[in-house]
Parts: sequence; C-alpha cells; structure tokens
Amino acid sequence: MASIGGTVAEASGPPSTRAPLAATPPMGWNPFNVFRLAYDEADIFRAAEALVRLKLADAGYLYVNIDDGWWLRRTPSAIRIRTNLFPSAAQADGGTSFRPFVQRLHGMGLKAGIYTDIGRNTCSQHWDAQSPNLPEGTRDQREVGLFGHGPADARMFAAWGFDFVKVDACGVADYAAATPAVRDGLYRAFPPMIVRDKPMESDPAGLAALYAAFVRDLRAFAPAAPPLLAICAWGEADVNDWAGRSGQMWRTSADIHPNWASMLHNFDSAAPRALFAGPGHWNDPDLLEIGNGDFDGAHLTEARAHLSMWAIIAAPLMLSYDFAKADPAIDALVGNREVIAIDQDPAGHQGVILSATDEGEIIVKPLAGAGRKAVALINRGATPLSLAVDLADLHLDPTAPAEARDVWRRETKRVPGGRIEAQLAPHETTLFTVIGKPAEPDTAFADEIPARIDVIDAGFKAADRSTKRDWICARIGYLPDGQPITIAGRRDRTALGVAAGSRLRIALDQEFRAIRISPTATGTSLARYAIYVDGRRLRDAVPDGAPVTLSLAGAQSLELVAPAAAPGASSFVWAGLRLERGEAP
Ligand code: GLA
Repeated sequence: MASIGGTVAEASGPPSTRAPLAATPPMGWNPFNVFRLAYDEADIFRAAEALVRLKLADAGYLYVNIDDGWWLRRTPSAIRIRTNLFPSAAQADGGTSFRPFVQRLHGMGLKAGIYTDIGRNTCSQHWDAQSPNLPEGTRDQREVGLFGHGPADARMFAAWGFDFVKVDACGVADYAAATPAVRDGLYRAFPPMIVRDKPMESDPAGLAALYAAFVRDLRAFAPAAPPLLAICAWGEADVNDWAGRSGQMWRTSADIHPNWASMLHNFDSAAPRALFAGPGHWNDPDLLEIGNGDFDGAHLTEARAHLSMWAIIAAPLMLSYDFAKADPAIDALVGNREVIAIDQDPAGHQGVILSATDEGEIIVKPLAGAGRKAVALINRGATPLSLAVDLADLHLDPTAPAEARDVWRRETKRVPGGRIEAQLAPHETTLFTVIGKPAEPDTAFADEIPARIDVIDAGFKAADRSTKRDWICARIGYLPDGQPITIAGRRDRTALGVAAGSRLRIALDQEFRAIRISPTATGTSLARYAIYVDGRRLRDAVPDGAPVTLSLAGAQSLELVAPAAAPGASSFVWAGLRLERGEAP
C-alpha cells in the first residue's frame, strides 16, 4: 500500500478529460469582508505583496479581486474609474484604465478580478447609500451595471486584461418602483427578477438568460482566455440549479459574517449540493472569514474548522482578511498545503454528506486515485463531541490495512478495527486523508463520483418551499426535502434522491461496462422511469421497483429521467446504483 505521509497533491489521478476554465476551485483574495467599500489600490497591492511574500500565491491563492466601489460614472465610451482610490488608472489623455493595475498584478505572478452587477445599479448604491465611494453624476451616469451594456463592458474588461469577473445582482433585486431611492428619482425602477427568499415570485429564467448573454459577451471579447465568471445571486431565483451552465462559481447564500452561526449557515447552503459541482463549476458559500471576528488568531480552532469545511466541499478559497493586522498563525493556517490539496484535488469532487445532525456532521470527499478519500468530522456545537466513521462507509475494505492522516496535526496513523474515531473540542473539525483498499474496486457508487453527475433538469419545484435550503432537486443519500433515504428499512447512502421530472447526466467516458440500478417511488405510484445511454432511450421505460442491469460498453453518457410528479410522489429515488468497470464476470 502506498504511504500517505506526503501531501495529497503528490497523488496522481487520471487527468480530467473535461479540462475546463477553473478546473479546480478558484483561490485568491477579495477586500470585501475586511474593508467593505473602504479600500484603495494601495490596500489591494499590500494584499497582493503579502500573498507573494507569505508564499500563499505559491500555495494557489492567485486571484486578487476588486469588489464594489471602483467606479466613478458611466460615460458613452467606458466606465470611468475612481482615480482618488485607483491613481494608477489615470491616463495621459484624461481617460481611465485598469490596464496598468492589472499588468502590475500579472507582473507579480497573480491574476486580477473585477466586479460588476447584472442590473443597472449596484449593491453599494442600495445597501451602502452613505458610502463616499458610490457612482456619481446624472441618473444615467450612475447606472454602472451591465444591463444594456453587456458587450461594451465585456470588451472593456477584456481590454483591461481581467481574469475574473464577479457579477452581483442587487440591480435586479433592490430597485423596485416602491423603493424610496427609486421613488425619489435617484435610480430608475427595475421590476425585480429576484425577490429574496421567495423563489416562486422571482424570475429564474429571465435571470439565467441575462447571465448566459453576458458569458457569451465575455467569450466574444476574450475567446482564447475568457475571464472566469463568478455569479453572485446569493442562492436566490433557483440560481443554484442553473448557474453552472454559465458561471464557474456561484454564491449559494447571502453574505457571510465573521461569526460561527453565519459561517455554518453559508456552509449548509452549499454542502448538500455535491451533484451541482465539478471541474469548471463550483458551489460558492462566499469569501472566507478567516482572520476576522470569531475566526481570528484568538480562535484558531474555529479558523481551522472554517477552512476544513470549505475544503471538504471543494469551495472556492477566497481570503478576505488584512495581512497587516492578522496573527501570523492565521497566515500559516490558510497556507496549509495538505488542506489546500484536498480542496484542489484534481478529481474535482465536492464532498458528500455521510451523516448530519445539529451537533455533528461527517463529509467524505473522494480524491483522485484508487482508495483515497478525505474525511471531515465536524463538531458544529459548543460542547465536546466524539465522531467516528467506518471504512466500509468509505467503500474501503475494513479488514485490509488503511492509514489516516490528520492534515492539521500532520500525523499519519493506521486505522484500527476498520473505524476512524475522533474526540472533537467545541467547534473543532478534524480533517483526514485516508488511503485503503477499495472494497469493490470495479464498482463506482454515486457518492464516489459526484463530479461526474450533472443535474440537467431540476424538475419539480416544491410549491411551498419558503427558503432556498428546503428543497434540493437532486442529492446523494437524501431526498430533496432532506430526509435520509432508506430502502426496505436500510439506509442507502449511495442512492440518488431526485425531484419528479428531474434529469441527471452521468459522464461515463467509456469507462464502465454496466449499470445496476433500482428506480423506487417514495409514495405509491405507478410511475415509469426513463434511462438514456448516449441519447438513446433504453427499453421502453423502467417501472417502479424493477432492478435493471444495462450494458454500457463504449458509452459516453447516461441520463436518468425521473417521472413527472404523481399524486403523493413529488420525489423519487434511484437506489442501489452501481457502475461496473472491467470485464463482464
Ligand atoms: C453584495 C455581495 C457581496 C459584496 C457586496 C458589495 O452584498 O453579495 O459579496 O460584493 O455586494 O457591495
């Protein structure tokens, strides 16, 4: 057995055949959590220099992003930059350009990110109305958002050389006709496409179309290397279900704050959504609060837990603290290469929730290479807790030797008795990489390949869902409403719980010879399920509860289509899913 004494980055796996933009979760620094709108170019360059000096850039933190507050006004030719904050943007001809700013970052070996809004106006104009750094001029000049200007602004960002564009959404959420600032004539009314916490009153299709159009603009003006698109619609308007078609990452929740409850809330908005993430498309629970408030140098247990939780779900790792003020222990903590390697594992799987209660949660992330997993044992509560995970739950042979490496304590131990246990302090997360012998080496279960499963159609929307978290159209081991899946009284952690009418696609890449699966209704139904292989419908249809084995020899993809909602059944289960490799027995 190979030792796991080194970092997980040393392991090799098959290179991803999809090789997209943002093949692993983006990493970098953004000023918003620490400075909000009160930062200037000197603050940005200080952070950039710290990333280089502290070797955090070498560790992967490459994107240095500007957030809200950089604009002075829209002019007919471009957006004028606030040169009081960004003096390097002043041009000899009296115009402004971020080109020198971006070139300086590129010269340091870093990448550069910019910020805009999908509507006409921005978040700061609504939420930070007293800021001195708001757009100025006439009502039209203060419309610095993309709406109606997508191609021109995409061309401008490309000319400036940006590598990353964060596109916020307050412009389509906060400027309803009844808003006081709109009534007063300060801003033009925008009939909201997002009504916060009310997906049924929002306009997901309209919003998705705006983002899709902008991504086309970005590609048109930088076809060789389009900037990465970060969609910031806070989990609203079903963005979590469609954003992966346009963006490389998308926010799954409202803004994070530097306290434990907020961190958990944002984590929970992304953690159950493993089926939506994969190379080139990542759930984003928001910037890290490490170094701030409850996650500062006096709270290293919480800071380690925060980074562990983002890493186990393959979230983007965007730092947002002040390097000048932080405890050096924080710099060392965010630079832990073994933790980063879990986040950045080339297989690109988001960790899958194995079990979760209010107190403790266990998440397993398959890593590239046979028999390799990362495991997070999370104490969410404020009292000590012991948690354990069985090798069998990791699809590893409990009777064969296995090793677990604690990547915070940097200790590797043999796993005794097929079970890894940890005593956790309040708020502590223990993060392990585990290597063992696959229990069934020729079989892939759904929880081992979440990045290869895509949600093509979200299907049925529960009409009574009041918050974004309540209903997730496709999950592993759980029904859309969050209930754990049990089949004939036994928990099935590898089953897919899906919404009626949903369509999942599994990338096979000619690797599998067969699939075994049992479509199962959760209520009474005479529903029939459909399975497609490379676009061909297989069999006429598959009835409830009928286990099927289908040949997949040479196939590229498989689609699983759940029946439309039937009385008493709005969700369905693809149980006992096994993808078989190798020769037929
Ligand atoms: C919104 C976003 C934040 C930040 C601010 C800037 O709140 O969600 O991430 O960009 O706007 O005003």
